[in-house]
Amino acid sequence: MAPLTDRTFTDIAALMHAAIGLSLGPAKKDLVASRLAPRIERLGLAGYDDYLARIGDGQDHAEFQVAIDLLTTNETYFFREKRHFELLEQTLAQQAPAHPVAAWSAAASFGDEAYSIAMVLADLQAQGRIGRDWSVLGTDISDRVLRAAREGIFPADRLREVTQPRLKRHCLRGEGDCEGLIQVHPRLAAQVRFGWLNLCEPIEPLGPFDVIFLRNVLIYFDAATRRQVVDRVLARLRPGGLFFIGMAEGRVQTGCRLQVLGPGAFRKLG
Ligand SMILES: C[S@@+](CC[C@H](N)C(=O)[O-])C[C@H]1O[C@@H](n2cnc3c(N)ncnc32)[C@H](O)[C@@H]1O
Repeated sequence: MAPLTDRTFTDIAALMHAAIGLSLGPAKKDLVASRLAPRIERLGLAGYDDYLARIGDGQDHAEFQVAIDLLTTNETYFFREKRHFELLEQTLAQQAPAHPVAAWSAAASFGDEAYSIAMVLADLQAQGRIGRDWSVLGTDISDRVLRAAREGIFPADRLREVTQPRLKRHCLRGEGDCEGLIQVHPRLAAQVRFGWLNLCEPIEPLGPFDVIFLRNVLIYFDAATRRQVVDRVLARLRPGGLFFIGMAEGRVQTGCRLQVLGPGAFRKLG
């Protein structure tokens, strides 16, 4: 296959930026070439130009989804950056909100984060700290991860940070052919919903939420897009609500007033 030319790379980068805010600088050219090459070969296309023509005309939604999956990463696991879940638990236990608690995992990937939040909320409910009408919404741009998230079945390794008592309370262990797999208990899954949402487009009226996790997705965006996404997401958070970004994602630029609670953890001020 002919190498990826600068021109085709620039066009692919512009397409991805316009569609999902993905920021692909010149340094990402080799990465884009190596991630797309096996797919282009598999489809029997002549090269990168043909692939761009295929995903660029807006007709082939399924292939566009494949391209998104190839160019972003869905890496996630339960209770990733554990400190955020401790903060969530402590804060809600203290606040003991009277209204139904609503949480949003805004780049949910396979759902590990949304189900981790659900475990914390279910335990707070069992302790009588919050009511039973709590809910968790998980959204993502990838149809593939959302399908898996709705199934709620995971390789056991992804739950390595879940404590044994929590595993016992909220999960079912696979046996026989399903050895090594863990299913989120249907009782817990019933309070978690998943839906498709592009953070780079205006968000339909959602929420308001008490808690928003927007973790490990801002890294894909350039500074201007980041700020737009953060402002858009924070508009859906109640004053006093908790907001989390990835611990390594740096500062948040926003017009909203935030109190810093720790690395990547904030409270929205009124
Ligand atoms: C690395 S995962 C983060 C998963 C989880 N939040 C965590 O921290 O473990 C990033 C997710 O962001 C999603 N994503 C990328 N661009 C997006 C966009 N514009 N809108 C919504 N989701 C997006 C990807 O599909 C991917 O599943």
